Amino acid sequence: MYKNLIEMFKENEGKGAIGSFNLHCFEMVPAMIKAAEKLNVPVILQTSLGTAEYIGFEPLIAAVKAIAETSSINVALHMDHCKDIDALKRAIDYGYSSVMYDGSALPLEENIANTKIVVEYAHGKGVSVEGEVGSIGGAEDGVVVDKDAAMYTKPEDALRFASETGVDALAVSIGTTHGQYKSKAKINYELLEELKAKLGDTGLVLHGGTGVSDEDMRRLAREGMKKINVGTELNKSYIEVVSKTFTAEGVTPLTSLRTLLGPANDRIAEIVTEKATLFRL
Ligand code: 13P
Repeated sequence: MYKNLIEMFKENEGKGAIGSFNLHCFEMVPAMIKAAEKLNVPVILQTSLGTAEYIGFEPLIAAVKAIAETSSINVALHMDHCKDIDALKRAIDYGYSSVMYDGSALPLEENIANTKIVVEYAHGKGVSVEGEVGSIGGAEDGVVVDKDAAMYTKPEDALRFASETGVDALAVSIGTTHGQYKSKAKINYELLEELKAKLGDTGLVLHGGTGVSDEDMRRLAREGMKKINVGTELNKSYIEVVSKTFTAEGVTPLTSLRTLLGPANDRIAEIVTEKATLFRL
């Protein structure tokens, strides 16, 4: 079924974290949903604004909804990191079931004020909202936050932000960065514990899942992360598999594009399966 994060967090209570996977093209949609379906776990598909505009809001949402509505699992379509309130309103009107307003680079007051506008609009239409406090470093679909500008989330700021905005999910900065493939910075579990104690029902979200060790992924799910984002690893593997297949001996990709895309889609399904298995308690 097609759901928002509020419903998905509730139904997944006590079962671990929900994997949230960045898709970059249409092809990844069925691969991701089918992999989650095989494991019988909920799944969040997320896009940047750039991907939504590349595919087109209407065809993207129609495809996700069509697959979700005949599926045995819960599926959400979430707009990842968006700083443009009008674009978020558009995503909500078109039918995204969840959105993220990212005002983390703004002063806290302004981040709260803008997030409140998005929450009011989204909740009026049954759509969930993720916010961000503290800044997660790295590059995200062209948006770069310098490592030195990345800051751990302050628990008191997170509490104030969550209670004043009424967000359903909150991206917190506890030591990961976006787009980093190898050995992530050390995750601050004490901070996670403190944030969890302070934030109660607001679902904590980990960004920058690529490169986080399997052991950390399991521990993050155990210690209360509700949504874990994985992006770069999917994008990178897609490109790697396509180029490996293209140059492989005996493959004649020009006979059908599916010869190239099939194995890449299979790898997407494998990654979703691997991660979602780690997130399950
Ligand atoms: P990675 O690209 O590091 O996996 O992070 C994804 C993410 O957090 C999307 O918001």
